[in-house]
Parts: sequence; C-alpha cells; structure tokens
Amino acid sequence: MFTAGIITASDKCYACEREDLSGQVIKEILADAGYKIEKYIILPDDIKLLKQEMIYMSDLLELNLIVTTGGTGFAPRDVTPEATKLVIEKETPGISEAMRYMSLSVTPKAMLSRGISGIRKNSLIVNLPGSPKAVRETLNYILEPLEHGLNILLQKETECAR
Ligand code: MTE
Repeated sequence: MFTAGIITASDKCYACEREDLSGQVIKEILADAGYKIEKYIILPDDIKLLKQEMIYMSDLLELNLIVTTGGTGFAPRDVTPEATKLVIEKETPGISEAMRYMSLSVTPKAMLSRGISGIRKNSLIVNLPGSPKAVRETLNYILEPLEHGLNILLQKETECAR
C-alpha cells in the first residue's frame, strides 16, 4: 500500500468561493487504487505555502505520492509548477509529457498546462491540471505506470520487466 498527499492549489477554493471537486476526485481515484490518503489540503496559489506543504508531505510525512491539482496554467497566480521546481531533486518529465500527450487527444488546450513532476527523497510529486475533468483524465492515465515507478523508487522492485 502506498501513501498519498493531495494539495489543491486554488485561491477560490481556499476562500471557500468554490467547492474543491478536483481534490475529491483525486481522493476517490487514489483510494480506489489502494492508496492510503494521509493528508489533503487546500492552499491558495502561493508559491511559498505550496513549497512548504510539499516539503512537509515529503520530508516529515514521508508520503510516497504527492498529487497537486490546479495552478498549472497561464494565469498570473498560477505558480504550482514553480513551487514544485523548488522542491524536487530529480525531474520525471515522462509523467507530465505523457499526461499532456494523452490530453491533447481530449482537448488542444491540454498544451496550456505547465504541470511538472519529480522526485524528492522517497516521494513522487505530480502536478495535475485544475478541473475535475482534467484530473480524472490525467490521473487515471498515469496510475498504473506510477505504481511501477514507485516500486522502483522505494526499491520494492529492482528492475523493469524486459
Ligand atoms: N487536460 C485534460 N486532460 N483535460 C482538460 O480539460 N484542460 C486544459 C489543460 N489540461 C484540460 C487539460 C486547460 S483548459 C488548461 S487552462 C490547463 O490544463 C491548465 O489548467 P489549470 O490552470 O487549472 O492547471
């Protein structure tokens, strides 16, 4: 069983002006996939707060998977990728590229997501776009390979099946 943390980056959700449907979708999908959700938090689009939370989830809670949703677009307050860049030690570009690639078959606007992903210590951090629809599409697409990647990261597997 892997552990997971969820961070919703949204000024509107933080101010209770909008219900966080995307965070709920992530919870549902990860729980169905057998993850133990150890922490879920809504934060404003604030690079310092986002960075601090990712470090807390990785370094103190030592969560295996940290999923963020929102703040990956072009809006001036969209800073989730920038916060993630400050936190990760190794990029895992294939995950973010794969999500955009798949998403382009859904909407050309997928190219507008600047989301990134990477490893910090024993945690994998993945930025998802903000809409519940985008979260469902992208998270479902990466779940299975993610499990393989986490097994390798946590040295539960030593090599990829040939
Ligand atoms: N990816 C998928 N799979 N489905 C979507 O509907 N929306 C796109 C993109 N990625 C979308 C998607 C849109 S419209 C935007 S603006 C960007 O995600 C960034 O969204 P965010 O700022 O909410 O992170």
